[in-house]
Amino acid sequence: MKKRFLTSMAFAGVAAFALTACSSDGDGGSADASGDTGGGGGDTIVVGFAQTGSESGWRSANTESMKTAFSEENGFELIFNAADNDTAAQIEAVRGFISQGVDAIVIAPIVEDGWDDVLQEAADANIPVILEDRTVSASDDLYAAWIGLDFEEEGVKAGEWAAEMYGGEATKMVVLEGTTGSAPANDRATGFDSAIEGTMIEKIDSQTGDFTRDGGKSVMEGFIQNYGVDNIDLVYAHNDDMALGAIEAIKAAGAVPGEDIKIISIDAVHDGMQALVDGEINYIVECNPLLGDLVAAAVTAVVNGDSVEPVQYVEDLAFDQAAAEAALPDRKY
Ligand code: AHR
Repeated sequence: MKKRFLTSMAFAGVAAFALTACSSDGDGGSADASGDTGGGGGDTIVVGFAQTGSESGWRSANTESMKTAFSEENGFELIFNAADNDTAAQIEAVRGFISQGVDAIVIAPIVEDGWDDVLQEAADANIPVILEDRTVSASDDLYAAWIGLDFEEEGVKAGEWAAEMYGGEATKMVVLEGTTGSAPANDRATGFDSAIEGTMIEKIDSQTGDFTRDGGKSVMEGFIQNYGVDNIDLVYAHNDDMALGAIEAIKAAGAVPGEDIKIISIDAVHDGMQALVDGEINYIVECNPLLGDLVAAAVTAVVNGDSVEPVQYVEDLAFDQAAAEAALPDRKY
């Protein structure tokens, strides 16, 4: 049986998105994980999920949230691919889902650019695409919905706190950027820079640590070597993992993280929050990775022909040391 589905765009300026879905069972038959067609019982929805990789604690929590939401008990068959932060491999994974004839594709795009062709191929194959976490620069006609966080606002919150705490005195700042070309790296930089404009915080260097702990550590070691540990006052890390790597580098150089060199980061994963409680990080803006249920609901709606909100922002909190102490015992990730 073939299902028709229609995504009615609830936000102005977004075109209606109408496609014919593959059936997930019965006579039409859709691809299963092995690429065979016609398998599975009931109304199982076959979903290909192209994850970025496993670069951070945030990513692990996001993957777990997605796998839990897209479980067999919830009526899904999830075909999971983690691209190890390799954009070409991620695009090929999506092409694989298209040739398997899945019912829907979910993508956490590593970078913003380069998605036009493969998204058009999915549309031509009548397979709806939902984006989670990161955004793309391709036309929003090419995907049914995006569910994620306001990365620019995260940067603004981090920058406003920095401006308030350190903006009144000469402060030399280095930045540990996320993956080059990714939406969070782009938007967190824009948001932070706008918030510290006109203050006495001076950005003396900014390099990518690729959202990894090792990357943060080695980039911070380079900064310390180039500028000297005494000439860096503040680190803005685009995620907790890079901040945790920077902490190792600062300690190895004989300085005290959180005191000699202040640290602001984004994510609020468990290890980052513990470092904040321990005084080694000074402020963290949350980036909530628990998107699985919202994404699964959107996929179900699209496949069943129900309307779906095309843009769904999830709220983020922010923590200083006292707030982290209060929140840590109940954190889910
Ligand atoms: O896209 C969200 C970002 O990706 C998280 O902040 C980071 O930790 C992850 O790798």
